[in-house]
Amino acid sequence: MIHELPRIALPGGERIPRLGQGTWEMGERSARRAEEIAALREGIALGMTLIDTAEMYGEGATERLVGEALQGLRDEVFLVSKVYPHNASRRGVQMACEASLKRLGTDRLDLYLLHWRGGVPLEETVQGFEALVRAGKIRHWGVSNFDTDDMEELFAVPGGDGCATNQILYNVARRGPEFDLLPWSAEHGMPVMAYSPVDHARLPKRSPLDDIAQARGVSVYQVAMAWVLRQPAVCAIPKAARIEHVRDNRAALDLALGDDELAALDAYFKPPRGKRALEML
Ligand SMILES: NC(=O)c1ccc[n+]([C@@H]2O[C@H](COP(=O)([O-])OP(=O)(O)OC[C@H]3O[C@@H](n4cnc5c(N)ncnc54)[C@H](OP(=O)(O)O)[C@@H]3O)[C@@H](O)[C@H]2O)c1
Repeated sequence: MIHELPRIALPGGERIPRLGQGTWEMGERSARRAEEIAALREGIALGMTLIDTAEMYGEGATERLVGEALQGLRDEVFLVSKVYPHNASRRGVQMACEASLKRLGTDRLDLYLLHWRGGVPLEETVQGFEALVRAGKIRHWGVSNFDTDDMEELFAVPGGDGCATNQILYNVARRGPEFDLLPWSAEHGMPVMAYSPVDHARLPKRSPLDDIAQARGVSVYQVAMAWVLRQPAVCAIPKAARIEHVRDNRAALDLALGDDELAALDAYFKPPRGKRALEML
């Protein structure tokens, strides 16, 4: 049985889980394959049914692992993949999408993202995505690593406002988007998908995260996850190849940080007081 998690609405009204699972660096080492598949399946059972992958990850190896992990579960999952910018021409997205579908062992993606902005005109990429929607190959499309000015440009091209979400680097140690990108997204009714929510396991060694974790009897990672998830219009996609990490991440959804804890985190991880260029990993 799959547990139901709190959801947030995409602009079209469809609701996606607030907590999903990333897959970057999975499927690259055969010795870890079984554990990675078990971790993804455990996450799905716990309700983390949004799975994020990309054609870039392991140059297709990760999508193949995801396809294996989803056997018998495809219809329970909101499946996200991403196209390389150099494949983002009108025809390029068709071919890249077909290849991703084949590796994933499915007939459609729930969401297809432009991985980051490249040289192909946005108008052309939007046309390619829209053609994929009409063909039933993808259900929604969106972008990733787009800063506020990129989003404005996107919304100015024909059909650009059909974008479902922007997947960005956002966590307690990378708060730049709070200055303008999160408010811009909220104004446009668009949820943000936070990647690297525990900063790719590179959170500072000693910070108020440790004090809160110790006082609450949870891990530093769970505090960092709870911090990201405190924002109602943000969903997060932590990657965890270990089952115990998957369970901890799920539990973080139930951890509500108090005002004093948030203030201690603000004092150390300062909110932006001006524009910071969007960072990416
Ligand atoms: N659009 C983009 O450009 C972009 C860029 C980066 C990432 N992403 C997506 O976002 C996903 C998440 O980002 P990420 O993989 O960079 O970093 P992340 O999720 O912030 O961190 C992953 C690392 O943290 C560890 N970890 C996760 N939860 C933990 C927990 N509860 N306790 C202890 N350790 C924990 C994982 O260990 P184990 O694996 O050993 O469990 C792994 O080493 C990616 O997998 C990918 O799908 C997208």
